[in-house]
Amino acid sequence: MSNEAPIGFFDSGVGGTSIWKEVIQLLPNEKTIYLADSKNAPYGERPVEEIIALSKKNTDKLLEMGCKLIVVACNTATTNAIEYLRANYHLPFIGIEPALKPAALKSQTKVIGILATKGTLSSKLFHQTSELYSRDIKIVEVVGQGLVRLIERGEHNTFEMEILLRQLLKPMLEAHIDYLVLGCSHYPYLMPVLKKIFPPDVTIIDSGEAVARQTKKVLEENHLQNQGDKGPGHKLFSNVDPKVLGLLTNAALNNYEVSYLEF
Ligand code: SIN
Repeated sequence: MSNEAPIGFFDSGVGGTSIWKEVIQLLPNEKTIYLADSKNAPYGERPVEEIIALSKKNTDKLLEMGCKLIVVACNTATTNAIEYLRANYHLPFIGIEPALKPAALKSQTKVIGILATKGTLSSKLFHQTSELYSRDIKIVEVVGQGLVRLIERGEHNTFEMEILLRQLLKPMLEAHIDYLVLGCSHYPYLMPVLKKIFPPDVTIIDSGEAVARQTKKVLEENHLQNQGDKGPGHKLFSNVDPKVLGLLTNAALNNYEVSYLEF
């Protein structure tokens, strides 16, 4: 595999661009291809077999496009399908898991919240991680029912979103969490609304920076860093109208190629 090959990303839609942004900032020399499978969003309400089949379809497309490493920029796909992907493909995969560990270690109140999809919260991988920490702290789990659909429509900072979030997050506010873990790559786009809802002493954390650092580490370990010129940089594809994908990545301003692709 050539070092100049792109890093591939896939997500159930536009949300994984929150991870992609952190990666391209930390690794400015790398080319990237991003697949937004918005046609099949949300993954979080699908059975495990479907999440695996969709992850396989996205991986096959990224391989066909010559990617050297794949970032599974979706918590639901990571927690349900990464084991399958790692066992069946011969290239490195980076996944995203909710950042429970830093929240659990730093919490003063010993009560933290996790907002994620049903698919993530009911996965084996998530249960294994949460069991490690729930002996010492209370974890308030909330399923972000309806959030991904609104974000996919570009309605992440609207009055309707605020009403929905206030209703969903009530158990966390009542339990006085001091850390909120965002367990879905779509949710960092909710930050402005979340900051209105939670008091300033609640820290909100996502996994973007940690994933970027891990991507760098794995590229180095596999001697896959692009040493040469970046060439034509970043290509983002959606299998529905790519308007929201373009808006969230500021594509016009940044000269990113954003287009429709059937996959
Ligand atoms: C979803 O498609 O339901 C959300 C994606 C994620 O879990 O990151």
